[in-house]
Amino acid sequence: MSALFSPYQLAGITLENRIVVSPMCQYSALDGSATDWHVMHLGQMALSGAGLLILEASGVEARGRITPACLGLYSDDNERALERVLKAVRPYNRAKLGIQLAHAGRKASTDVPWRGNKPLTSSAAGGWETVAPSALPFADGWTMPKPLDRAEMDKIIAAFVQATERCLRLGLDLIELHGAHGYLISEFLSPLANKRTDEYGGSLENRMRFPLEIARAVRAAWPSERALGVRLNGTDFMPGGIVVEETAMVATALKALGIDYVCVSGGGNSPKQEIPVKAHYQVPFAAEVKRLSGLATMAVGMIAEPKAADGIVTKNEADLVALARGFLDDPRWAWHAAEALGDDLKVVVQYERARPKLWPGAKLVRPELHP
Ligand SMILES: Cc1cc2nc3c(=O)[nH]c(=O)nc-3n(C[C@H](O)[C@H](O)[C@H](O)COP(=O)(O)O)c2cc1C
Repeated sequence: MSALFSPYQLAGITLENRIVVSPMCQYSALDGSATDWHVMHLGQMALSGAGLLILEASGVEARGRITPACLGLYSDDNERALERVLKAVRPYNRAKLGIQLAHAGRKASTDVPWRGNKPLTSSAAGGWETVAPSALPFADGWTMPKPLDRAEMDKIIAAFVQATERCLRLGLDLIELHGAHGYLISEFLSPLANKRTDEYGGSLENRMRFPLEIARAVRAAWPSERALGVRLNGTDFMPGGIVVEETAMVATALKALGIDYVCVSGGGNSPKQEIPVKAHYQVPFAAEVKRLSGLATMAVGMIAEPKAADGIVTKNEADLVALARGFLDDPRWAWHAAEALGDDLKVVVQYERARPKLWPGAKLVRPELHP
């Protein structure tokens, strides 16, 4: 059995393999509530063969959504809508199910990507007031955020806890806190967005204080046998931004709070970032965070080739490998990876007749996928 298809234990849950469907916003919710699109999308991802499927960034407050069409988990209606979607998907799903809980901070109140991701700076345009560590907009023309005071920070912690309780009722296996990509938690961690002069800004110890308060509160509300992870930026890809040694220190502090893994991503804190995009470009950050903190890591970013993905696990650079766009393009990526690596992957009975091993010598479709 390849390393990629070996099982993995995270807290009390056993993943069938190391492959993860990375959280992906679908911008298809109504007032934060999941729709039939989510049945379609998650239905496909549930058949993908991945060991873990993490649902998209879900706002713990309405104002913490990136766009008006983002998923939320801040109301009873949101919870009921997600319950309906999960009920439809679960009978056919083999993956463990997780969700990413998020607050978009100063990058909230923007339009959906297919309308240009533009900031919605007025209520007439469908926007709302945003919050952040400091009164500093993401870029020129973006909404000026309101800096959070202590009472508002407490409310946000309470919103994360309430969303966690909803995840528990929904029977989810895993929560990932979104601490990357320049959203609220990442804004506190990054010197680019956090210019506070109180005990929540300045030194790394201060910048990580609020993120750790959130993680501690969520861990207390989420049973220890269910997995809890945090997505962090290994780097902001910007001079003056967070660097990997700091991220490793954050991971070490999270580990002490009982967090089970970190997913190491990057960027999103500055429009001036320069990302050297190439295959596996963020894997070295995951490896470094794993080495320095001893915490389990998930690697993400331009991982597409099965043998190379297996190499990440074999070389102990990360414990888990997440793909986003790869699964949109090829929702059976894990089936094809299993063939490439000589592994046996159980698939839904309805689709078994398309398995190449039943048709030796015949090329059904896309020969490059069936070596
Ligand atoms: C459509 C789409 C939606 C995304 N939404 C999220 C999200 O909700 N949360 C998150 O942390 N990252 C999100 N991302 C980033 C991916 O999870 C992933 O980190 C990134 O795309 C790099 O991986 P890839 O090269 O395999 O696509 C999204 C990416 C895409 C393509």
